[in-house]
Parts: sequence; structure tokens; C-alpha cells
Amino acid sequence: MRTFLLGGPGANPQVTDALRKETVAFRSPRGVALAQRLLIEAMPKKPVASILTGLDTEGAVALAAREVHPGAAVRWFGLDAYVARKVQSVFDMNAAEGAPALLAEAREDLPEGPFDLILLPFPSSGESDLMWDVLESAHDALAPGGRLVASTNGDGRALRKAIEHVFGKVTPWTPTDRGAVAYGVRTKKGSARSPRAHVVDAAVPFAGADGDAAAPIALSIETRPGTFCHGSLDKGTRALLQWWKPEGEKTLLDLGAGCGWIGIFAAKADPSLRVTMVESNARAVGCALRNVERNGLAEPGRVTTLLRADLEGIPVPAGGFDAVLTNPPYFSDFRIARSFCSQARHVLRPGGRFAMVVRNGAVADAHTEVMSEVFGSGRSWLCGAYVVLAAVR
Ligand SMILES: C[S@@+](CC[C@H](N)C(=O)[O-])C[C@H]1O[C@@H](n2cnc3c(N)ncnc32)[C@H](O)[C@@H]1O
Repeated sequence: MRTFLLGGPGANPQVTDALRKETVAFRSPRGVALAQRLLIEAMPKKPVASILTGLDTEGAVALAAREVHPGAAVRWFGLDAYVARKVQSVFDMNAAEGAPALLAEAREDLPEGPFDLILLPFPSSGESDLMWDVLESAHDALAPGGRLVASTNGDGRALRKAIEHVFGKVTPWTPTDRGAVAYGVRTKKGSARSPRAHVVDAAVPFAGADGDAAAPIALSIETRPGTFCHGSLDKGTRALLQWWKPEGEKTLLDLGAGCGWIGIFAAKADPSLRVTMVESNARAVGCALRNVERNGLAEPGRVTTLLRADLEGIPVPAGGFDAVLTNPPYFSDFRIARSFCSQARHVLRPGGRFAMVVRNGAVADAHTEVMSEVFGSGRSWLCGAYVVLAAVR
């Protein structure tokens, strides 16, 4: 039985999962997640030449696919560059001598294919629109007769309905414990994809450079399933934009830029500003790149959009950025917000301004603490249900 290590370097693997009648095992800190375990158990044995998997955070399914189908080309993809980097470290840790390396790729969309087998998990906490979008793309990425195996840790009703709609037929497989698995086979030649992007047009109030309210700024922003606040402008982001008053900054960094609301607003508010937008979600970066053009900011050097999991190696203006703006994610115990604050401080020039928007209440209290730890002190402005926290390096 081949045993793989999950969790990346430094993880403490305390749990062993022996799967597929004890032919493949995983040692990991908390055990293989249910949806991934189900995929590994349900993976067909019939030989195939090419397999696509991904959208998980562990890499276990790809490692199992390589073990069950040693002759197949196995590809892993995800939307997020941070997750892809983590999965790549798992692949590297488990690399077998003589076997081709497994690569973890962050991409806006599934690779085109054709693939003989696609194995994808859909956690019950996931976005329904994203599930439909991925299932339609998976259909198109399969070779004729190719098979999709999809799993969930939920009851599987929504997943089965979507597969039936996209593939014309669904074959459910009932696992012995919780969760659900369903198979679809590509029988139709034509594409199953439907347009799922939205373009949001908004006129966002602008405080103006001198604090006298200026004309609202018109933004036209494409979002796609799987990007933050798909189909609308987040209320927290709107609060930050309404608060922002340029103070003669020449350079600005939008950290965790999503589809580009903040960076594009700041660039439109001040025609002499050069903006860098950094984002880890490849799909959001795709939208942001198109949004820069859509909003008339394509002139070289005006707005730079980068797909990154951190700020290492990004072009920093001599002396540092004049300002960093962010609407940080809250998950992982505010670990990302903490990292955003310290990375921002690192790339700001002395005297440069940092501002982040967070929900009022306990979330704001936790972020105020984080910001004070990093910057020493700061100020806050209540904007409805949100708070803008600002500090100077
Ligand atoms: C709350 S959303 C804000 C998005 C956008 N600024 C807006 O206001 O609509 C936070 C963004 O940070 C991104 N993100 C999370 N971790 C990141 C990281 N390590 N590096 C860069 N971006 C990250 C997420 O993908 C998400 O798009």
C-alpha cells in the first residue's frame, strides 16, 4: 500500500486514511476531507489516458489518481494561487522517482482537454453558480464518452440535478457514510456552457480630493461565479470607496483586488495615480484585467494587475507605495488580514497610508488589534455597518 503525506512541510500527520480497500493511504493532520475521500473511493479503475482533478486544497485525489492510473497524464487545477502553491508543496513532498512531476496550476477556467476522466469535489458550503459553471466546463473538457465523477459532503440533491441537466443523465452512487457521489458521461457533441458572467454598472459616490463631494465615479465591473461578491458591489467595498480621499498619492496598491473595484475606482478618481492590483484568485484576475480595459485604463503603466499569493517579487515603486487599500478576507482566524497588514506595511513608503474596511463589531475589534500590532496605532471611521481602519507607516 502506497502512503502519501498531506498538509505540506511542517504539518503534523496524526490521522491515517486507508482507502480503496487499503491500496492507497494518506497521513494528514485531520484526515482526508469527506468529498475528496468519496472521489478517491468512487474513481473508476478502467484504464484512461488523461485525468483532470482539482478544486480541493489537499491534492489527495490527484495523488490517488496517479496511483490507480499510473499510465495516465494527471492534471490538477484550482482557481486560487495560494491554494495551488500549497497543493504543489504536497505534490513535491510525495514526488516519486522516475514518475513525471504533478503540477498544481491556478487558472481562470478548467484546462480545455479533452480528458477521459474528470474528478471534482463540490463542498456543500460552495457557491451554486460556481458548481453549475464548473460542471458545464467539465462537460466541454471531456472527450466523447469521457466520464465525470463529482462528489459532495452534502446530501447531493443539487449536484445530481445539475449533472442531470448538463449531461442529460446522472448515475448516483450512494456511499456508505455521509455525502454523495454522482457520475455523468459526455454523450453530446455541442457545448453545455451558458453565460454566467455579470457586468455590474455602478455610480459610486466620491469624496473628492479636497473633501468636497465630487461627481460619482461610474464603474463597469465584470464578475464571474467564484469571485468575491459575484454580481454586485460589496457594501464594505462601497464604504471604503466613499471614504477614500486622495492626498496627492502617485502610487497605490489594491491588495486582494478581486475583480478590481478598489484599484479601478482609485485610478478613475485620480488620473495621475499609478495603481497595482494584486489578487490570488485567477478567475478574479481575469475579470480585473478585462475590467481595466472596460473602464478605459488600458494605457501601459496606469493599472498593473498581478496574480499572486503574496507580495514577494512584485514591482514596488522606489521608496515604496504611497497608499495601500484593502477589503481583506475574514476566514482562517483573520490570518490573511494579519498577513495583508504586515505585507502592506512592508511595501509602503514611510508616511504612506494604509486603509482597510471591515464589518463593524467583533470583526472590527479583531482587525483593530491586528492593525495596531503591525502599525503601532491607527484611526477608525464608522461607515454604516462597516468600519474603515486606517494607519500611517
Ligand atoms: C473581501 S475580498 C475583496 C475583493 C475586492 N477588493 C472587492 O472589494 O471587491 C478579498 C480578496 O482577497 C483575495 N485574497 C485572499 N487571499 C489572498 C492572498 N493571499 N493574496 C492576494 N489576494 C488574496 C480573495 O481572493 C478576494 O478576492
